[in-house]
Amino acid sequence: MRSDANIAGPMTDPVPGPRTESSFGEDVSRETPPPMDDTPIGRAAQLAVEALGRAGEGLPRPEHTRVIVVANQKGGVGKTTTTVNLAASLALHGGRVLVVDLDPQGNASTALGIDHHAEVPSIYDVLVDSRPLAEVVQPVPDVEGLFCAPATIDLAGAEIELVSLVARESRLQRAIQAYEQPLDYILIDCPPSLGLLTVNALVAGAEVLIPIQCEYYALEGLGQLLRNVDLVRGHLNPELHVSTILLTMYDGRTRLASQVAEEVRTHFGEEVLRTSIPRSVRISEAPSYGQTVLTYDPGSSGALSYLEAARELALKGVGVSYDAPHAHVGAQNNPSMVEGTQ
Ligand SMILES: Nc1ncnc2c1ncn2[C@@H]1O[C@H](COP(=O)(O)OP(=O)(O)O)[C@@H](O)[C@H]1O
Ligand SMILES: [Mg+2]
Repeated sequence: MRSDANIAGPMTDPVPGPRTESSFGEDVSRETPPPMDDTPIGRAAQLAVEALGRAGEGLPRPEHTRVIVVANQKGGVGKTTTTVNLAASLALHGGRVLVVDLDPQGNASTALGIDHHAEVPSIYDVLVDSRPLAEVVQPVPDVEGLFCAPATIDLAGAEIELVSLVARESRLQRAIQAYEQPLDYILIDCPPSLGLLTVNALVAGAEVLIPIQCEYYALEGLGQLLRNVDLVRGHLNPELHVSTILLTMYDGRTRLASQVAEEVRTHFGEEVLRTSIPRSVRISEAPSYGQTVLTYDPGSSGALSYLEAARELALKGVGVSYDAPHAHVGAQNNPSMVEGTQ
């Protein structure tokens, strides 16, 4: 867990009491961008942040490690894509971030370029054999400050194996509590089900982030997830709450997308990030290169929208109001965010 150790990077430590936007990054000159790594990813990050017009602006780091559970029992709504790209964005903003891959498919591990064949020490060993998390965490190549606890195919059996184990719902929570490396964020990528793996994530985290695909039936099945969140809060984890809703695969050219977005905003209100993620071919191509869109195409609308969503998430976490950018990404109905079929 995060200690008070001072970690190098542009994220600024939170100051007590209310903050205003103007107090951000006060130790960083706005005229002079901070020196970046002389690596391809360092330059890519610099480019992306400059494209957002936010060079030199630090983000407040959370006082304690924020453990965020990315869940939605529907498959294909953007859980994995959101987990890896938000995590990479938070790391590029200077945070130390761990992705826990809790889906036996291991898609998050793949997208982060992390080896996860059957022999690799993985989150399965942590959950079922009580192996320390530190023994399975790997640094993500090319992205400073980003780490991954990979999932292997073994995890498919864990759903059953966990049933007979002691404290079967809180094994991930215990492993995270025993992890001593300082971290700003832990993002947990859940499988598309509400079984014991997802319950372990809900017990381990305080926040639930629900990605919602801007499609027909977007809200269908969410009631079940919300009831599970209530149950876990009532019995196992009083801190748990749905903190964030993120609209994904938003296509501003269609009436459907804006209708769904409106419905979601009416239903959830404040929890819905103002930044939505456009449908983008670049986002869907990146995983096949073992990359996030942030390294694959840092200037693309997909990369910029995830950077912006990460910024909004970081600001919300310290109770600071978020100013949506005007001309580029983030505006919910801005058709220019959409790459269409490019
Ligand atoms: N914003 C997006 N634009 C285009 N394709 C996307 C976007 N987000 C996700 N996808 C694609 O949609 C599919 C499902 O996304 P994924 O993140 O794997 O969902 P889940 O983890 O919820 O099953 C993947 O092929 C992914 O590449
Ligand atoms: Mg997934």
